[in-house]
Amino acid sequence: MPVRRNGARVFVNWNYYCVDPGAPASIQNLRERFRRFLYESAGVREKTIGVKLARGDAVVWKDEELLSGIAPKLILKLAVPHFGDEGFDGARLERRIEEHCAALGVSQIDCMQWMWRADLKDDQRRCNEFRELATTRIASVAATIKSNGRVVCFACFPYTQAFADVALDCPWMEALVIYRNPLEREYDHLLDKALGAGKQVIALRPFAAGRTFESGLTVKDALSHCFAHPIVRSALISFTSPAHLAEIESGLAGSS
Ligand SMILES: NC(=O)c1ccc[n+]([C@@H]2O[C@H](COP(=O)([O-])OP(=O)(O)OC[C@H]3O[C@@H](n4cnc5c(N)ncnc54)[C@H](OP(=O)(O)O)[C@@H]3O)[C@@H](O)[C@H]2O)c1
Repeated sequence: MPVRRNGARVFVNWNYYCVDPGAPASIQNLRERFRRFLYESAGVREKTIGVKLARGDAVVWKDEELLSGIAPKLILKLAVPHFGDEGFDGARLERRIEEHCAALGVSQIDCMQWMWRADLKDDQRRCNEFRELATTRIASVAATIKSNGRVVCFACFPYTQAFADVALDCPWMEALVIYRNPLEREYDHLLDKALGAGKQVIALRPFAAGRTFESGLTVKDALSHCFAHPIVRSALISFTSPAHLAEIESGLAGSS
């Protein structure tokens, strides 16, 4: 087990399963003691982020540092039209995808979260214009960016229920990105329709930006609510401490 210090940082490279099973009992004993230490030490636990690999995930080391245990998924948020723009400009959307791919050094975006902003105060116009172009210009851009491999999943953050309703009728739209938590339930009625239409749902704000805790709910309660509908397979959660991450991890393990 190589241990190396670099300034204040200590690097440990250890793999439980790489200890020779035929090694003497004293070595096996040492292996078990070190494993217990990693599990039981509060100091280690506080600074450790555990990752459980799913099929297809990979572990990446770079310069001896563990970067990620999970195959990264790139979600790109793009608003075309942006606030104040007039109408949908397909060429602009395609150009912006190319610009982002070049800036990120990638050839493919796993999920594009598309938004029609323009004027949010005039939702009726937003929905009408979207409906008019959904089978023509927008469908054509969707076909292009998928056939050229730039975007795998075309998702929509609708801003309103009416816009979400139109989006769910679009065959080229794979996913909806919506708020979902016990305090904000305005999209609940669309989940069955989304499921029936074969879409996915990415849940935002599962803790209502922290307000769920003020109302007495636990992390597990909020996550159970979030994933209670079979269509919700992923959620965007924010946290700023390893302790909160650990609670989220155990809440996910225990949520129904
Ligand atoms: N269209 C979009 O793409 C869109 C729209 C809205 C929001 N978002 C993004 O979605 C993400 C999530 O939104 P959000 O932060 O508003 O909502 P959230 O994930 O529902 O809640 C985050 C809050 O919960 C707290 N928290 C997390 N784990 C906790 C725990 N175990 N115990 C107690 N408190 C805990 C966090 O506190 P700590 O920070 O102290 O851990 C933070 O205050 C953000 O990154 C936001 O930018 C995206």
